[in-house]
Amino acid sequence: MEDSDARDEVMTSRLRTDVAHSARIYDYLLGGKDNFPADRAAAADIHRVWPSLPVSMRANRRFLARVVRWLAAERGVRQFLDVGTGLPTEPNLHQVVQRVHPDARVLYVDNDPMVLVHARALLTGTREGVTRYLDADLREPRAILESAALAETLDRSRPVAVSLFAILQFVTDESVAAGIIGTLMDAMPSGSFLALSTVTADSNPEEVANGLAVYAERGIPELARDRAAVERLFTCAGLELVEPGVQLVHRWRPADGSDELPDAQVQMYGGVAVKP
Ligand SMILES: C[S@@+](CC[C@H](N)C(=O)[O-])C[C@H]1O[C@@H](n2cnc3c(N)ncnc32)[C@H](O)[C@@H]1O
Repeated sequence: MEDSDARDEVMTSRLRTDVAHSARIYDYLLGGKDNFPADRAAAADIHRVWPSLPVSMRANRRFLARVVRWLAAERGVRQFLDVGTGLPTEPNLHQVVQRVHPDARVLYVDNDPMVLVHARALLTGTREGVTRYLDADLREPRAILESAALAETLDRSRPVAVSLFAILQFVTDESVAAGIIGTLMDAMPSGSFLALSTVTADSNPEEVANGLAVYAERGIPELARDRAAVERLFTCAGLELVEPGVQLVHRWRPADGSDELPDAQVQMYGGVAVKP
């Protein structure tokens, strides 16, 4: 679904403003306005027990920008498949990469109805490039790969950067996560990249355990992974991690003082790997 009919259907049936949604909780904690009372109540409960979560989320956004800028500028990547896009938050991925390559092509994918409602705001890329949005579920990677949107946006004979920023914590079964990553990366040519970030409790076990318990009570189960489990997300698909491997996100190729944060305030691991 990509048009106004889709948005109408969403507004009437899928939005469920009475139930907290992960994308809207994230938006609220990042200071956004695209959220409802149920999201704000859940966010307040989570924040009470996980006070450093907004710091960690902002560090994740800065990681996202550093990674995609590096992929575009240093590795010459001009095609991006970003699954779990979230609500528009400046700078959005396409803005970062199209600043490097105005002709860069970006396909955004998310399954949250609120993100679909805001898709238009995401679709304002450069004239030379392409920015598109697909309403689809990461758990059905074949549907993403077989979509018309993907065929029309990405040339699969040339390298693609697949990005899964702050989404895999919602895929709590490791064999399912490995299957999704394997399916997506098998479909991409040699020289493609996988970039991801996901929640860890390694740097702050108490806050993360308490916070994930509140997310679960609100019907949003999440998995915290240790560093070895995050490394396996890459290696299980035969990918080769690039330097500096899996790091707390503020320590991955730090810039502009991003690594000055105390580790205990950052509960996300991130990394980038290449398909040989
Ligand atoms: C925490 S936000 C991350 C947003 C952005 N990637 C970032 O790092 O700032 C997670 C996003 O993943 C989306 N999401 C969660 N499960 C999903 C699934 N199974 N399929 C597609 N999107 C999903 C949510 O709707 C939300 O927008």
